[in-house]
Amino acid sequence: MISSNDTVATLQRAHLERLQSAYADILAAQRFDAVLIYSGHAGVHFADDQEASFKSYGHFVHWTGASHHQHDWLLIQPGSSPRWYYYAPADFWHLATPAPTGVLAEVMTLQPLRDTGWPPESDMAARRLAVIGNLEASSLPAGAELNPPALLAALDELRMYKDDYERHCLFVANQWALKGHDAARNAFAAGASELDIQLAYLAATRQRESQVPYQNIIGIDHHAGTLHYQHYDVEAPGTPKSLLVDAGHSHAGYAADITRTWASVHADPLFERLIQGVTDYQQRLISRLAPGLDFVELHREMHRHLAELLVETGLISISAEAAVESGLTRAFCPHGLGHSLGIQVHDVGGRQRDGQGTPLPPPAEDPALRLTRTLDVGMVVTIEPGLYVIPMLLAPFRQGAQRETVDWAAVDRLQDHGGIRIEDNVIVTAEGHDNLTQGRPIAED
Ligand code: GLY
Ligand code: MN
Ligand code: MN
Repeated sequence: MISSNDTVATLQRAHLERLQSAYADILAAQRFDAVLIYSGHAGVHFADDQEASFKSYGHFVHWTGASHHQHDWLLIQPGSSPRWYYYAPADFWHLATPAPTGVLAEVMTLQPLRDTGWPPESDMAARRLAVIGNLEASSLPAGAELNPPALLAALDELRMYKDDYERHCLFVANQWALKGHDAARNAFAAGASELDIQLAYLAATRQRESQVPYQNIIGIDHHAGTLHYQHYDVEAPGTPKSLLVDAGHSHAGYAADITRTWASVHADPLFERLIQGVTDYQQRLISRLAPGLDFVELHREMHRHLAELLVETGLISISAEAAVESGLTRAFCPHGLGHSLGIQVHDVGGRQRDGQGTPLPPPAEDPALRLTRTLDVGMVVTIEPGLYVIPMLLAPFRQGAQRETVDWAAVDRLQDHGGIRIEDNVIVTAEGHDNLTQGRPIAED
């Protein structure tokens, strides 16, 4: 149990100790003496000298929190302190990378690298060495093994379980993202365009676009019905009806992933009723989170709630059971209930049963479900039910034998409102769960 006197530094020290001990066990079990983790580096656009956007490799960030370090290495060798080779060239074109500070500098041995390329050969010699990262096998030191699948499965498994430091980072990321969502809502109410809402979000969250954990989704009206809508219209429509904002923040390498949907004064009252309905059952689904719960079962429960809402609001005239059975609810919500959240917005390990990497594929009828595990203490998940009008998915029902069972006039009225998604980030605890989007801090700075 954490006391409120715990500082973030205390939590971070404990996090690094946990990683050291877990890596020692994993490396011993897999007969490696050390693992060298490459941060990665940005690609360059074809026939250009401009770099593409870049994020460091997740297992590197797990230790360092440095999500934009390029050409760095981290050598983990049980019995020695982690050795961080950070790329800091003598470069008058760019600002030099500052040396890591704080707990990282206390716990790790820091070594600047003046050039890109491998750490000194002498540091990697005479070991059963695993190397992980986006590298060419031909460039490897002799005898080293690149991205051993069993090692990656074990390290992904470690990432599934968040400790109190990680929980703190996710909480802080959530608090920032919520400020952005407030700003987005206010901008929308003032008549802003998608681009202006995005700019208001970035300003409120003090981020540049390259820092957000995933591209913010800001959809007005029918754009809200494109699940990963990727543009920002410069002009606002004259009488906007709806806004869906799926936008996050990154804190010390950890992502928030929050969605809110708003109706304007021009919205159809049915749309407002549906937002309330989705919000209500999202909260009911969250209230079920606890260790031992099968996430696939909870995903199915989402479909039952969605079906009931469609029946209650008169959008469909078959039973809720029949709506789920026939696949109709999947046409209204084709994505999964949620996913693991951490360093990556869709974090690793969600579709494996254990540290051996035993696959746990999604059910055939839910191919987009990214989390198929039984929940356990320390897992952080998103809960993000949705309800959309996506004509290409509804078309088979509109033309098929069941066409009389849907109120197509109402569906057509809703189409230019796009859709609804409500998303919170929740940690599973021994007592049940803690909603990081609506909860309280566990540490003081
Ligand atoms: N922001 C992407 C997602 O919610 O999964
Ligand atoms: Mn999201
Ligand atoms: Mn999500």
